[in-house]
Amino acid sequence: VPVSRIRNFSIIAHIDHGKSTLADRLLQVTGTVEKRAMKQQFLDNMELERERGITIKLQAARMNYRAKDGEKYVLNLIDTPGHVDFSYEVSRSLAACEGALLVVDASQGVEAQTLANLYLALEYDLAIIPVLNKIDLPGAEPERVKNEIEQIIGLDCSNAILASAKEGIGIDEILEAIVNRIPAPQDTVDAPLRALIFDSYYDAYRGAIAYFRVMDGTLKKGDRVRLMVAGKEYHADEIGILCPTQQPLDELHAGEVGYLAAAIKTVEDARVGDTITLAQNPAETPLPGYTEANPMVFCGLFPTDADQFEDLREALQRLKLNDASLSYEPETSSAMGFGFRCGFLGLLHMEIVQERLEREYDLDLITTAPSVVYLVTKINGEKVYVDNPSLLPGPQEREKIEEPYVRVEMITPETYVGALMELCQTRRGEFTDMKYLTPERTTLVYELPLAEVVTDFFDQMKSRSRGYASMEYHVIGYRENPLVRMDILIKNDLVDALAMIVHRDKAYVMGRALVEKLKELIPRHQFKVPLQASIGSRVIASENIPALRKDVLAKCYGGDISRKKKLLKKQAKGKKRLKAIGTVDVPQEAFMAVLKLD
Ligand code: GTP
Repeated sequence: VPVSRIRNFSIIAHIDHGKSTLADRLLQVTGTVEKRAMKQQFLDNMELERERGITIKLQAARMNYRAKDGEKYVLNLIDTPGHVDFSYEVSRSLAACEGALLVVDASQGVEAQTLANLYLALEYDLAIIPVLNKIDLPGAEPERVKNEIEQIIGLDCSNAILASAKEGIGIDEILEAIVNRIPAPQDTVDAPLRALIFDSYYDAYRGAIAYFRVMDGTLKKGDRVRLMVAGKEYHADEIGILCPTQQPLDELHAGEVGYLAAAIKTVEDARVGDTITLAQNPAETPLPGYTEANPMVFCGLFPTDADQFEDLREALQRLKLNDASLSYEPETSSAMGFGFRCGFLGLLHMEIVQERLEREYDLDLITTAPSVVYLVTKINGEKVYVDNPSLLPGPQEREKIEEPYVRVEMITPETYVGALMELCQTRRGEFTDMKYLTPERTTLVYELPLAEVVTDFFDQMKSRSRGYASMEYHVIGYRENPLVRMDILIKNDLVDALAMIVHRDKAYVMGRALVEKLKELIPRHQFKVPLQASIGSRVIASENIPALRKDVLAKCYGGDISRKKKLLKKQAKGKKRLKAIGTVDVPQEAFMAVLKLD
């Protein structure tokens, strides 16, 4: 097809507003996926994603569509992940498009993450088509939501489309709008090849597969290609389009979207944002916007069973093949033994990796509480980044500690403004801005230490707003604060894996709350277990877990052996996720106690 009849677009939507359902409909109506072959929600094809109902990795699909003008068009849908952890990937897929559908649930309204992605799309000058979805619902108020969009973003909604992805209403109108309102890609077929990688994944047989949009020039099968940022060259063994399954082709031109298989060893060599060019006639400069997504949140991962250390290493190696933003390094903890310090883009990313390690690799892990990366200036002027609280240089050695701050933007019904402000205040937040968007909805902007956001902030925000508020955040830089390291001692043993960095003014309250929580979470033993929180050599809080008085088995009647066995089995199962620290068995939950303090 000529460039003039290609349309590249993505869908911007808040979780649950119906992006996947709409994508499925578009694939179905254009006959891209046969009804028979159509699994529900074709685009979200990772098992974990489907279970959690969120889009984590992006994918793409090419549709053929005969428009009302009688012409045949190629519509490329580039999906975007729906979570703040992956906003860099969102920015790259938007950069590969000329337009976007803004899908808003007509019974709800605009949410924070939608806004963040929409601003990105506007930055790239994309044509935006507002779609009010779920108009089949009795509670749908398309006029109110249109108004809201106009008020908040100043986007003209007079030509917004009323749709129901579920009932198939408005789908033709959406397809026509894609053709008529989104511009065709620029015709730069004659320029040297530049293709933007917006996604990549690892295939055990073919190596890393890159998904890309050709911005300029032509890519042919068999070409020798160069990845401009990675600085590596490959033979383009196979190229093709995504329908949405891969279909090999011989050539792809400016404006088209496709995939490349070139025996690339890991996704790290085909990073999102890198530019593919030709080795023979290379482009002068790579496409703009490449950055390396840096890990923001770190935690320790330790096998409960020391024998699984090598298995854990292998599993991390394999996950890394498919996930360039995951980082890991061996860590030795006096309390936990051998494990890895791992870095993640955010909390969701962290949870996904942990879950995959346990599910797909059958590992039993103890995870330590998440930490951010602190910037420490030593007395001698040297600056070091510290991602592990137990490695914080002592007070005599350091001059100052800086911590990362984020700007958090929340959208909430007005009723919950007070509760959310209170939450931000207890999290050391600094009020920045508040706007009444409409009589019903308010945005609230705070600057907060990232450390306070990664510890359970999201869940707190949701519970304090009964699920109605949404949030989005991005890093704004480092700030100095009077921070100290708080240590935890269990039966007089210092447990490095429980050390945390806290604000001086919050240390006492935190220390007290933490030992009380640990007392709840650590089971009783045959002996008394003292618990202490300390700063340096000063104990700031202490508790005792009293000794067990009775043997558990004493509860069994007489010699009912089956009952006894059952009880022992139950105990053995519960033991799985315990770590012996000295003579004390500490369960997984205790390492996460800090997330459960509020
Ligand atoms: P993420 O993948 O997490 O981004 O969610 P999503 O935006 O893809 O939402 P999804 O398509 O999974 O839809 C969320 C829920 O809304 C599902 O239960 C859908 O069945 C339902 N839904 C989607 N579109 C409509 C609609 O037009 N009307 C009604 N009544 N329900 C809809």
